[in-house]
Amino acid sequence: MSQTANAANFGGGAAAAAQASSSASGQLTATGVRDRYAVIGNPVSHSKSPFIHARFAEQTGEPIEYTHLLAPIDAFVPHVRAFMEAGGRGLNVTVPFKLDAHALSTTLSPRAAAAGAVNTLRFDAAGIHGDNTDGFGLVRDIEVNLATPLKGARILLLGAGGAARGVVLPMLERAPHTLTIVNRTAGKASALVDQFSAAAQAAGCRLSGGSATAIEPGAYDVIINATAGSLDAALPEFDDGAFGSGTLAYDMMYGAQPTVFMQHAQTLGARAADGMGMLVEQAAESFYIWRGVRPDGAPVLAQLRQMLSAPSAA
Ligand code: ATR
Repeated sequence: MSQTANAANFGGGAAAAAQASSSASGQLTATGVRDRYAVIGNPVSHSKSPFIHARFAEQTGEPIEYTHLLAPIDAFVPHVRAFMEAGGRGLNVTVPFKLDAHALSTTLSPRAAAAGAVNTLRFDAAGIHGDNTDGFGLVRDIEVNLATPLKGARILLLGAGGAARGVVLPMLERAPHTLTIVNRTAGKASALVDQFSAAAQAAGCRLSGGSATAIEPGAYDVIINATAGSLDAALPEFDDGAFGSGTLAYDMMYGAQPTVFMQHAQTLGARAADGMGMLVEQAAESFYIWRGVRPDGAPVLAQLRQMLSAPSAA
């Protein structure tokens, strides 16, 4: 089964607002107390975020504890408040609460405002700060881990839902040559083009989109699958001519096996990558927002792949 990287967290489980079902820990503070963080979602027990943040805490020596936090669908806000009152310093937010987190935030980063969704909350004296690190995680995975520059690149983005919307601004900030957004429901792609036209102009990027007919001739440098299609092994509509031997085909989903999108791209000669690196890199950026220290994602990504490829992996 495939899972979505931008959601960062999956599965079912149980934890009350102040309870831990698993924890990540670094060094203790002088008072012997670790600062508390968690990933909140529903379901959430299969989230890899506690594993990832545990490795970051070890790597940096930051004194944090990081747990899963299950909230009932209709009780996101009281669970966040209870976590704050219990001393919590920040949360990662996953399905289905990213819009609720956006609404709850007293301040928003520009990228969270553009995404219309929040995956990272930081609590401090100033209030509740909402950010969105998903797009940053995608860009960093592509540019650093996969060594594929986006500046001047021709990019095709498949999908126009929440996952796609969350990555448009961070990609435009890398000044690609072209960004084509294609979606099954063409009007949603066109709406994204309208939303981001000023940012594209500022970045010197040619932004267009709509149905699959909007795909331009010739191979793209990067093709990103931000549709939910991989969850049920469905291929989004695209033009095979968009894939070439120099194309990086990136699926924001990941699973134990390559997704159908990745397999298809490979049969067309493209290089394929899943979204596990995005998962780790969005977590690294959240860690940075909370702690002011940027962990190195690459070794943690290697550990996560090793753990998930083990026969006993869930
Ligand atoms: P998410 O937050 O994961 O992006 P979403 O906002 O529901 O979830 O968006 C899902 C995206 O996947 C949409 O772009 C959707 O296309 P539509 O807007 O036409 O619904 C796309 N999608 C889902 N299943 C798909 C499939 N089988 N083929 C093509 N696109 C699909």
